[in-house]
Amino acid sequence: MEVIDSTQHKQQLQEYFNGAGFQRWSAIYGDGEVSRVRRTIRAGHSRMLALAETWALDRTGQMSRPLDTVQVLDAGCGTGVFSLMLAQHGMQVTAVDIAPQMLAAAAKRASVAGLTHRITFIAGDVEQVGGTFDLVACFDVLIHYPQPVFGQILGRLAQRTGHMLLFTYAPYEPLLAAMHWIGGFFPHAHRRTDIQMIREASVRQTLEAHGLDVQQIVPIRSGFYHVNLVQALRPDT
Ligand SMILES: C[S@@+](CC[C@H](N)C(=O)[O-])C[C@H]1O[C@@H](n2cnc3c(N)ncnc32)[C@H](O)[C@@H]1O
Repeated sequence: MEVIDSTQHKQQLQEYFNGAGFQRWSAIYGDGEVSRVRRTIRAGHSRMLALAETWALDRTGQMSRPLDTVQVLDAGCGTGVFSLMLAQHGMQVTAVDIAPQMLAAAAKRASVAGLTHRITFIAGDVEQVGGTFDLVACFDVLIHYPQPVFGQILGRLAQRTGHMLLFTYAPYEPLLAAMHWIGGFFPHAHRRTDIQMIREASVRQTLEAHGLDVQQIVPIRSGFYHVNLVQALRPDT
């Protein structure tokens, strides 16, 4: 197995999401004209976030706490789409991203929406964030990390989770894996942005090792958007 230097991998992702990746993903997460392929990704991402929002509201409702006391960590917030959704419901959000350009776009959106008082922005690596949050969200971030870094970051997010962890990962699919292996799927120069497929058993194992119960794993498929959305809960909370 290829040995991954986690610091170097994060640095490459930071450079990507602060440059070409910012252009690509901020267009997908915006509402301007995009290509057909990007439209499928936008549709899948919106569907995934809408489901995550429903789960977040259901569970926080069951916690019988005023929404403005619910603390959320949006790990790898990107342009802040989910942070804003939860802040609009009154929750207190800590939005973290390794790419300053992404974070600046998120802060701008929050300012336009009049939500800066509910969102704290932190530029940096999610693994460096301390504390515990009622809800931890990490969408379409772990899809960029191969094992064992994937497991390391997921474990850290689980440690930060007081009640519920929501995240996406790219499920292992043998045909896609074979194409990656042959090497014809992505041009070499773009490898650092490869989507990293992870087996469900390893996801479950990491969550269980950190005391979280898997409640639901829902596949979201829309053209080129293929992720599994996971809801994990800390028992008795
Ligand atoms: C594809 S975007 C997803 C953005 C957002 N979660 C969403 O779904 O709208 C991935 C984001 O993860 C961020 N990211 C990647 N690794 C990170 C890390 N270790 N710590 C913080 N942010 C990270 C990138 O900078 C990028 O903004």
